[in-house]
Amino acid sequence: MGEKAHNETILDIARLLPHTLKNFLTGLRLSIDELHDLLAEHNLQDHTDFQVSCSELGKGMERLNRLGGALRELFVIEELAPEPFDLGELLREQILPWFAEKHSDHFLEYTAGSAPATVLADKRGTELCLQHVLSNAVAGSSGNATVSLSVAAEENGTSRVVVTVTDRGSGIPGHIQERLFQPFVSGWPNGVGMGLFVTKEFMHRTGGEVQIESEPGKGTTARLFFPADGDAGKI
Ligand SMILES: Nc1ncnc2c1ncn2[C@@H]1O[C@H](COP(=O)(O)OP(=O)(O)OP(=O)(O)O)[C@@H](O)[C@H]1O
Ligand SMILES: [Mg+2]
Repeated sequence: MGEKAHNETILDIARLLPHTLKNFLTGLRLSIDELHDLLAEHNLQDHTDFQVSCSELGKGMERLNRLGGALRELFVIEELAPEPFDLGELLREQILPWFAEKHSDHFLEYTAGSAPATVLADKRGTELCLQHVLSNAVAGSSGNATVSLSVAAEENGTSRVVVTVTDRGSGIPGHIQERLFQPFVSGWPNGVGMGLFVTKEFMHRTGGEVQIESEPGKGTTARLFFPADGDAGKI
């Protein structure tokens, strides 16, 4: 088999995997629920060994679920449909409500330039990357710490729009920083290590880039640079 055909076969398998995983996990969840009911009927639901196994199984299932999600995201960023849109509007209308619901124990401080920040990018992929960077900022901060989000024209006058996410959390340990954008590199117990890999791939394919600066013990700043849609992007 030639290299191209070989790669296609791997991609075909990878495309099947999220669906197979989802079906498997749904089946497993139903079986566990039934087992719970059965044990409850016999007053055995509080059995410690069973509780521990369920908790371990739950963590494994959560990781597999996120792995399936990450694989699905890889296919989102393979089929990009760039269009001009106002990044400030996307932040206000999609990202701020998502953050308030998903991370209700953290406060998000948002600042934006007054004029529209029109960029040329795939909207769904943009949302995914912003969610990854914001979720990392939350995971790296202690409970109810403030995370900052801003959108502005890049300072050196290029026609790029930059979204900045800053946290004042733990910072990224040196050994993780070295391999930050590689797939499956995670410093967190339940992390899959795909968020920043997907973000880097997406930003690259969009004609932009992602930069991360971090100081252990002080916090982290992530910057996502998007190409402006012609002169309309100047804000
Ligand atoms: N803001 C941050 N503060 C502290 N550590 C961070 C921050 N952002 C990233 N990291 C470190 O970089 C690692 C890689 O991040 P990445 O988003 O790629 O994976 P993940 O969050 O572990 O898993 P996933 O995003 O796939 O669920 C994290 O596990 C964490 O160790
Ligand atoms: Mg992440």
